[in-house]
Amino acid sequence: MFLGLLFLQLLRLSLVSCQAKPGCRDKCGNISIPYPFGIGESCSMERLFTVTCNSTNDSMPIPYIKSGLIDITDISLITGEITVTNYLAEDCYNESGRSNSNIPSFRLAHNGPLTFSSTKNKFTALGCDTYATIKAMSEEDLTTGCISICNNNSTSMITEGSCDGFGCCQTSIPRGVRYFEVELGSYSNHSNVLQFNPCSYAFLVDQNWFRFGGISDLSGYMERNNGSVPVVLDWAIGNKTCQEAKVEPDYACLSQNSYCYDSTNGPGYRCNCTAGYQGNPYLQDIGGCEDIDECRTQPCKGICINTRGGYKCDCPKGKHSVDPNKYECKSPFPVVKVTLGIGIPFILALFVSWIYLGLQRRKFINFREKFYKENGGLHLQNLISSYPNITFKLFSEEDLKSATNKFDRNNILGQGGQGMVYKGILPNNQVVAVKKSIVVNAMQGQQFANEMLILSQINHKNVVKLLGCCLEVEIPILVYEFISNGNLFHFIHGECQLSLKTRLTIAAEAAYAIAYLHSAASPPIIHGDVKSSNILLDENYTAKVSDFGASKLTPTDKDQFATFMQGTLGYLDPECLQTGILTEKSDVYSFGVVLVELLSRRKAVSQDGSEQERNLAHLFMTSMNDNRLMDVLDHEIMNEGKMDLIHEVSRLAKRCLSVQGKERPTMKEVATELEGLAVLENHPWMPNNPETESLLNKTSDTYVGESSEFFSLEKRAVLSIEPGR
Ligand SMILES: *[C@@H]1O[C@H](CO)[C@@H](O)[C@H](O)[C@H]1NC(C)=O
Ligand SMILES: *[C@@H]1O[C@H](CO)[C@@H](O)[C@H](O)[C@H]1NC(C)=O
Ligand SMILES: *[C@@H]1O[C@H](CO)[C@@H](O)[C@H](O)[C@H]1NC(C)=O
Ligand SMILES: *[C@@H]1O[C@H](CO)[C@@H](O)[C@H](O)[C@H]1NC(C)=O
Ligand SMILES: *[C@@H]1O[C@H](CO)[C@@H](O)[C@H](O)[C@H]1NC(C)=O
Ligand SMILES: *[C@@H]1O[C@H](CO)[C@@H](O)[C@H](O)[C@H]1NC(C)=O
Ligand SMILES: *[C@@H]1O[C@H](CO)[C@@H](O)[C@H](O)[C@H]1NC(C)=O
Ligand SMILES: *[C@@H]1O[C@H](CO)[C@@H](O)[C@H](O)[C@H]1NC(C)=O
Ligand SMILES: *[C@@H]1O[C@H](CO)[C@@H](O)[C@H](O)[C@H]1NC(C)=O
Ligand SMILES: *[C@@H]1O[C@H](CO)[C@@H](O)[C@H](O)[C@H]1NC(C)=O
Repeated sequence: MFLGLLFLQLLRLSLVSCQAKPGCRDKCGNISIPYPFGIGESCSMERLFTVTCNSTNDSMPIPYIKSGLIDITDISLITGEITVTNYLAEDCYNESGRSNSNIPSFRLAHNGPLTFSSTKNKFTALGCDTYATIKAMSEEDLTTGCISICNNNSTSMITEGSCDGFGCCQTSIPRGVRYFEVELGSYSNHSNVLQFNPCSYAFLVDQNWFRFGGISDLSGYMERNNGSVPVVLDWAIGNKTCQEAKVEPDYACLSQNSYCYDSTNGPGYRCNCTAGYQGNPYLQDIGGCEDIDECRTQPCKGICINTRGGYKCDCPKGKHSVDPNKYECKSPFPVVKVTLGIGIPFILALFVSWIYLGLQRRKFINFREKFYKENGGLHLQNLISSYPNITFKLFSEEDLKSATNKFDRNNILGQGGQGMVYKGILPNNQVVAVKKSIVVNAMQGQQFANEMLILSQINHKNVVKLLGCCLEVEIPILVYEFISNGNLFHFIHGECQLSLKTRLTIAAEAAYAIAYLHSAASPPIIHGDVKSSNILLDENYTAKVSDFGASKLTPTDKDQFATFMQGTLGYLDPECLQTGILTEKSDVYSFGVVLVELLSRRKAVSQDGSEQERNLAHLFMTSMNDNRLMDVLDHEIMNEGKMDLIHEVSRLAKRCLSVQGKERPTMKEVATELEGLAVLENHPWMPNNPETESLLNKTSDTYVGESSEFFSLEKRAVLSIEPGR
């Protein structure tokens, strides 16, 4: 009888630890394979979870996903992640130029359960004289990338463990990515750095695994890692939400004590054991979620009784303790008992536990205070109180959580390499855009506070207003005025008609805004990340320049420069690339690219065509020099028959794109010139323009039938255009 019980207990323990479907192998080599994954089709939930595990020799077998030949190194039920092997891209040079280049791509099944984790991985490039882009295919295709430069003279900048644009650079990927392509290249054939860095490398990698090893990682990295690095994938069941899946016959959370939660990275859901239970929530009986015997692990000083889903820790009869989990149970003081009865110890206990709870809360508050202080909160508070007319507000983390519905993904307005922007509604019904950055700000304390204050003073109708910030978190969250109509990038690369007049008006407004930034403060505020997606449009299509995430007060040190390096490729000032110094003229160059984007309706970096044609600035300059402007520009505006005007704007763009900064006009000159040209165009613009109507019809056509959640906010914004108001 006793042996039988022991046997059952042992069986249960071994099942709890293995978590495979009953009767199936639970390990391949030394890697656990929990259900819904399984070795062989009958052991897994479906084909796409089927793992193959065979080895011809005696060597350790490696499990791989059958449908994609992906080698697995770890599977986690709790986090819903699986770590697999990813291949490195390599681009190598010798004295005679490029010697070899190998650029693999990675494709996960289109409707399958796996997606690349956007939170655990970073796209990483190694090398001096290296640029790398990743075209990540998800609900919103995003091409992002980074640049790493260094040469003989700057090897001291290459720091072990610091991936900041010198020898190593990193960027994030968006959510829901199942397929990506990498582009890897060099500006001057590694000719200045061949001795210590013959190759560039790029790869998506588990950011907890990767650590930049300094200059030694700039050669032979491929060989040392056998051509591969780990990458984390999220997995999910099916393509429905929990709510939809619960009523289906194939609902996967079979264990009684389990619950369902939606995947945050693409469609589908996962299961988890309810608190106090452990096991495999996807299994019905044996191996499913079992009660945890907390009494084995919890330090109870009294009598511990395990209950389903929890435990009780009490003092034996007649003894008391403030908290039997922590303090010995003792007999009450006899004097108290005699003189005042049992009421006092109770009150005493209450009093002590009240103090204790107070202390706990205090700890939590201290943590917030730490960030608040580090981010210059006290300094900023002082500044604000000494300037009576400031509207800038310091938000608490709670304020922003409730404004954005706990940073709900339905509130996401946009995302990019630098972070997420959420729509939020403040208690006074004011709609705001909340920017949660993932790039750690190089500035600390007072310096950051000063910059916040300067930016909050910017008051221009074509600049998005900074309303406040939250300093209680590690990376400060910025709160901006909400602009309803999306950004210029979507407008240019969307479907609606765009007259030359419209384009010039938007360009002139944006130019004035940047010119204002350059002149508003001393030292000047350099935007540092001028691009079409940073120019927002309000309900009247008035341009509003946004995102001072990259703007710095003339960066001179390494960290500031590295942040600038995160700026989107295609808009980067080549002179700044050489010198590492960001100037007002860098903004002029980037603006030149936006101007060409407006004239051509082409993207700043495109995916098609020869290497020369991909960079819009380059393509435009060659066409201009060869007198082939017609090939590049948008036919829609050329059909308006104002070629003189178009040539004038093109010449202005060309000056902005001069290689040498000193040959470029100032932003003020650009703005004045553009305004003059826009006035030459004498058609009335908005609101009673027939164009508005066609714009409305077109966009609604495009968006109807678009079922993706992701676009719904934008869709509402676009559909709310009301002409003639
Ligand atoms: C499996 O074995 C390899 C090599 O011995 C080791 O590096 C790895 O950490 C092990 N994995 C697990 C999950 O134990
Ligand atoms: C494992 O089995 C698959 C399918 O039967 C086969 O294609 C593959 O070559 C085998 N792998 C090894 C290492 O034997
Ligand atoms: C496995 O066997 C193949 C063929 O017999 C051999 O070439 C290979 O070196 C072996 N691998 C190991 C790790 O022993
Ligand atoms: C790079 O090398 C190629 C030959 O492989 C040559 O045509 C090209 O001009 C070189 N570029 C630079 C910038 O040195
Ligand atoms: C450079 O690499 C190419 C291709 O691998 C090779 O043909 C050539 O001989 C190499 N040149 C030098 C100078 O090593
Ligand atoms: C390194 O610095 C020296 C002296 O400042 C300069 O002449 C040389 O061109 C620099 N080399 C590179 C590759 O930038
Ligand atoms: C870089 O430094 C090495 C060794 O100091 C030297 O041989 C080489 O000529 C230098 N290259 C350049 C471009 O300065
Ligand atoms: C690369 O492969 C070799 C031989 O197969 C092995 O000894 C080494 O540990 C591997 N290195 C890594 C980083 O996996
Ligand atoms: C959802 O999954 C089912 C079954 O796997 C598939 O038939 C269907 O096409 C999928 N729907 C979408 C929108 O991916
Ligand atoms: C799943 O359960 C574990 C253990 O109770 C918990 O740590 C984890 O946060 C849960 N995950 C989710 C997404 O609920």
